[in-house]
Amino acid sequence: MGYTPPLSCISLPLCYLFLFLFLSYVHIEASPLKLTREATTVSSRQRLSVSNDWKFFRSETNPDQISYDKRPNLPSTSNTESLKAWILPSGNQFIKDPAKRYSRPTSSQRTNVTYAQNGFDDSKWETVSLPHDWAIQGPFYRDDSVPVKGGMGRLPIHGVGWYRRKLSVSVEDKSKLMYLDIDGAMSYAMVWVNEILVGGWPYGYNSFRLDLTPYLKEGHDNLLAIRLDNPTDSSRWYPGGGIYRNVWITKVEKVHVGQWGTFITSRNVSKKSATIDFIIQVENEDDIAQEVNVATDVHVFDAKSGRAGEKVAEFPRAVVTIGGNQHLQAKGTTELNNPKLWGPYSTQHPNLYIAITRLSANNETFDTYETQFGIRSITYDGDKGLLVNDEHVEIQGVNQHHDLGALGAAFNIRAAERQLEVLQELGCNAIRMSHNPPSPELLELTDRMGFLVVDEIFDVWERSKTSADFSLIFPEWHEPDLRAFIRRDRNHPSIIVWSVGNEVGEQYTDVSGASIAQTLNDMVYEEDPTRPTTASMNYAKPYMPFPRALDILSLNYQGEGIRDAPAYSHLSGIKTPPLYPDFHRTFPEKLLWASESAASLSTRGTYIFPVTRGISAPVNDTSGGNSKYLHVSSYELYSADFGASPDKVFSAQDHNPFVAGEFVWSGWDYLGEPTPYYSARSSYFGIIDLAGFKKDRFYLYQARWRPDLRMAHILPHWTWPGREGKVTPVHVFSSADEAELFINGKPQGKKKKGNYEYRFRWDDVLYEAGEISVVTYKKGSEWAKASVRTAGPAMGLRVNADRMDINGDGKDLAYLTVEIVDEEGNIVPEADNEVMFSVSGPGEIVATDNGNPTDFTSFISQTRKAFSGKVLVIVRASPGEAGEITVMASAVELKSVKVKIAAH
Ligand SMILES: *[C@@H]1O[C@H](CO)[C@@H](O)[C@H](O)[C@H]1NC(C)=O
Ligand SMILES: *[C@@H]1O[C@H](CO)[C@@H](O)[C@H](O)[C@H]1NC(C)=O
Ligand SMILES: *[C@@H]1O[C@H](CO)[C@@H](O)[C@H](O)[C@H]1NC(C)=O
Ligand SMILES: *[C@@H]1O[C@H](CO)[C@@H](O)[C@H](O)[C@H]1NC(C)=O
Repeated sequence: MGYTPPLSCISLPLCYLFLFLFLSYVHIEASPLKLTREATTVSSRQRLSVSNDWKFFRSETNPDQISYDKRPNLPSTSNTESLKAWILPSGNQFIKDPAKRYSRPTSSQRTNVTYAQNGFDDSKWETVSLPHDWAIQGPFYRDDSVPVKGGMGRLPIHGVGWYRRKLSVSVEDKSKLMYLDIDGAMSYAMVWVNEILVGGWPYGYNSFRLDLTPYLKEGHDNLLAIRLDNPTDSSRWYPGGGIYRNVWITKVEKVHVGQWGTFITSRNVSKKSATIDFIIQVENEDDIAQEVNVATDVHVFDAKSGRAGEKVAEFPRAVVTIGGNQHLQAKGTTELNNPKLWGPYSTQHPNLYIAITRLSANNETFDTYETQFGIRSITYDGDKGLLVNDEHVEIQGVNQHHDLGALGAAFNIRAAERQLEVLQELGCNAIRMSHNPPSPELLELTDRMGFLVVDEIFDVWERSKTSADFSLIFPEWHEPDLRAFIRRDRNHPSIIVWSVGNEVGEQYTDVSGASIAQTLNDMVYEEDPTRPTTASMNYAKPYMPFPRALDILSLNYQGEGIRDAPAYSHLSGIKTPPLYPDFHRTFPEKLLWASESAASLSTRGTYIFPVTRGISAPVNDTSGGNSKYLHVSSYELYSADFGASPDKVFSAQDHNPFVAGEFVWSGWDYLGEPTPYYSARSSYFGIIDLAGFKKDRFYLYQARWRPDLRMAHILPHWTWPGREGKVTPVHVFSSADEAELFINGKPQGKKKKGNYEYRFRWDDVLYEAGEISVVTYKKGSEWAKASVRTAGPAMGLRVNADRMDINGDGKDLAYLTVEIVDEEGNIVPEADNEVMFSVSGPGEIVATDNGNPTDFTSFISQTRKAFSGKVLVIVRASPGEAGEITVMASAVELKSVKVKIAAH
């Protein structure tokens, strides 16, 4: 145990506890993380977090005159040395044809650079912990002559970043192998150990491993130095910058289970039995052959406690002889009776198993490797849609970008879990990881919480969308990236399909584009023959070769039609009639869904008059938009030019019952891509805003996706001084089929939902202050009620915490919502008071937000204006400390408020 220990990992049993931190994470319950698992197995595999004590520096110009390769927009390109030849070999393990693998150059190119040198003084650099996003604290770029514009979130993602840290290596470690496992670094990572360039990985969203063993020496001062380089114009959204996911050192014996070295699949699955197949990759990095016993037991995995429960099966024990410097695969099959199947929430249960593999010789275990998995059957049917364990599951999905709002790209388990919790409340059961591999922990959450997942890898292939995007490296990296992606993720039961592309330019290039699709499809099948492939199509038509190459038909917007309703007729751009019927006729056997639907737009709590009488309209200044204040009306009838309202999408789905469902664009708002107002910072597409506050649209989807939930939601708010006597339409979202509206007790008429109608609307209501209320009915009986009152002047603050107890591990978070309220406790709907936050006790404020896409206050500011009456503060407990954290919120002339959060 010679490494400079991270705080959380100072002995072997503790390391196991640390590992099980993820495993013990429980969804839905508002309980703190509990590390309950005892270390029962001792083997020499160790996985240590390397998150603390990094020194960090970033430069907007190229500070070291090196780069991965020549590329457009590279700052000061003269004199720059390309180190690509040293990086390419890092992908070798994922290149199938040995002849196409790369060898490490032997020439004397300059690979030892200043910032990687021992003697370099980094004491003036910032000290940071990982995961780290160098851009998120801003400041935001405001005007248009700036390096990073609205598309990428107006934050300083660009430039070269260096991270340095010491590693120590003990005498015992010297007989072992030491791997550096980086879950994600944005981007063009290059890694030096003791001044020697080891390798790297360009694609910022993939996880990768480098073998540090040959470069380390015994002692405490091994220098690990990592260079990242994030080009401007490399993405269509906010990518973040830095080592934004976890980093690990994995120590193993020379004979060990390989990286992502197990693959568990099941066949003939029923409630009575399942056949489970197991493949394991054993690697021997020693020169001499060894005889190895391979034993794998299957246990129930209890996600709640994080423990491996009862043993339920074992794979036949095998003795294999593995030659010096050889890798081999061992296979086994076992039967499981009465398996507890994995299925999506809420109609099924996400049961999990864990396979514990032990490699041993002479009765001594020298490697223990754990694989979580689930047993389920999936049928992809052209008519019936998706069947999981023979039950139909309607896809009620959303697209999610990788950022975590005010925390940026820096991964945090609680932040990700919170996103999923709000989505589950919505009735969402499926997520498309648009458009890149997620962090590994997010997939553990989707497994445990029971979401179906589209795991997606590329936004571009050879044809670029921005000047410095992945197309620059597609030719050399698509194979290692694709195979690495699948090997990492293939055991997750939540993943139901591999998506190899999103709206790629190759849709337009006929057979040549389709042949790339075919190549990627075939690679996927070599890595995982059990799941289908897809790529999302916003242009390809049924008669083109592109859709033939892939299994599932994923349509972006084309299903419901693009610019095809009367309100869209004035627009230029491609007009596409609804294509569901055509695709289904051409490919009756292929499952068909909307991988992106709607692209509706709105700013939470903002209502703009007049309101369209139609069911869907594009945004402009006379149609739901305000280009001066950069807001879109929350009547939830307005969309991007290429999009449609939720109502129009629902209608298209219901007219075509063979459609398996939809993935709404998007679940949460995200940083960048602020269509239609690119001078803003974050998107308008979300059902939920960037801070996690629900927009009105939330209830429109909830009404459809949770038809048994008694709910009714009224919009707009009812505080409109100056609108007295003016037409102020009232809409109600409810799972009921009939509704009656009252204004100050006066009935406004009872409405019934007609066929293909998804909301109740009273479009001619004249505003008068007071109370509006709705009583809804389902099948003739009263179902749910709601009311909204005119608010008085702001008097005070009200605070709600998502959890009152958090873990004092320096990572867990409490999310506190502060509302501006009047004397009676009504939210003041347009309140924008500036709220000041402070904390006492063992905690700190990590970030604040309000969901306003035009708020350019830094996310780390402890003062923030409310937006539409609400503001969010995110609090973290100090690592290793317990006690009471008091969070105070105050605003000028308002009653302040305090809340106490317990840290354990
Ligand atoms: C790297 O460069 C420094 C300074 O030129 C030199 O002292 C050191 O020996 C070099 N390291 C290697 C591994 O070449
Ligand atoms: C499923 O089980 C049946 C009989 O139990 C067997 O004939 C068949 O080969 C099995 N199929 C697979 C894919 O294992
Ligand atoms: C391994 O352990 C078993 C049970 O303790 C014993 O019977 C066997 O002889 C041992 N084998 C070796 C090679 O030590
Ligand atoms: C704004 O959109 C509406 C449809 O919602 C359309 O009728 C009108 O022509 C558009 N105005 C402009 C200036 O494009």
